[in-house]
Amino acid sequence: MKKVGFVGWRGMVGSVLMDRMNELGDFKKIESIFFSTSQVGEKAPNYSSSELLKDALNIDELLEMDIIVTCQGGDYTKEVHPKLKSKNWNGYWIDAASTLRMNSDSVIVLDPVNRSVIDRALNDGIKDFVGGNCTVSLMMMALGGLFESDEIEWLTSMTYQAASGGGARHMKELLTQMKVVGTNFTQMDESLSKDIMKVDQLVTNTLRDGSLDISCFGAPLAGNLIPWIDSAVEAGQTREEWKGVAETNKILGRSENIIPIDGTCVRIGTMRCHSQAFTIKLKRNIPMDEITQMISSHNDWVKVIGNTPEETRSGLTPAAVSGTLDIPVGRLRKMNLGEQYLNAFTCGDQLLWGAAEPVRRMLGILVD
Ligand code: HSE
Repeated sequence: MKKVGFVGWRGMVGSVLMDRMNELGDFKKIESIFFSTSQVGEKAPNYSSSELLKDALNIDELLEMDIIVTCQGGDYTKEVHPKLKSKNWNGYWIDAASTLRMNSDSVIVLDPVNRSVIDRALNDGIKDFVGGNCTVSLMMMALGGLFESDEIEWLTSMTYQAASGGGARHMKELLTQMKVVGTNFTQMDESLSKDIMKVDQLVTNTLRDGSLDISCFGAPLAGNLIPWIDSAVEAGQTREEWKGVAETNKILGRSENIIPIDGTCVRIGTMRCHSQAFTIKLKRNIPMDEITQMISSHNDWVKVIGNTPEETRSGLTPAAVSGTLDIPVGRLRKMNLGEQYLNAFTCGDQLLWGAAEPVRRMLGILVD
């Protein structure tokens, strides 16, 4: 049995990963060793093969692993990965953080989309396998059929990204803001609360008067949105927007022949489900039934939602998708820009297909 070390398994992505692995009996196939940066020597979780938590900064103990799976974050990767490499560690490093993603000797894993890229890398002796940016992975799961058939000339993606993309504290900050706004409304004098303009004024004042905790997002998110995610890169883009073109083409192994992708990434007040609206310029005028067939047959999780109000409201919202592996794609229609312009919308759980699941499946590829 392969010895697999887990680091960062208690955080949000790590917990989702542990739940999925437990649910699917993955721990039965490996010898699992749990590492910690803060609770070394304490009891390991009951699904661990070893009794106590080992030190996540002890390089000698990490060197004994055949595979290390980390959801600990980029700083840990930056500190530990080079130390293992300098000692000629020959194991596989599977990482949810972005640190190694764009290295030439790493592969971004999303096996329903790029299994052939992964297999080629394994044959070539590549050892570092990294989960992709959540928005990118969710887009590729949704539009995998169009990418695979090489039908996309370019696309834009306008995102509606959930609080969880920032982390657990961000989710709590959103809820606290919602509570303050809601409480201010419910505590309004009854005569004033009948007047919606007065209610609106109260809400706007609450968003502006500095009373909300905005330490994570830097602006209120409840009753608001923030069209900026991550740091600035070149030409006015954010890093999140840049990842769209950089990671998508790397996942597809198309560094020489890139598909242009750009858009605006926006944080909105949902919990853990990212949504995206696409404008897709197709290479040719493809009939809608062929498009639907290409999209829906690509993988086991994508499903096309009929372009009706009822189906959209019941199947194409964060409320419908959150906590599931479903990748609905809807609002499919040719745009009035021309027959080669396709409109599409998708939602996906940012912690499942957006983070934990590609990592879990990569471990499965190495172990099975
Ligand atoms: N960067 C993403 C976000 C999450 O902020 O929503 C991680 O891929």
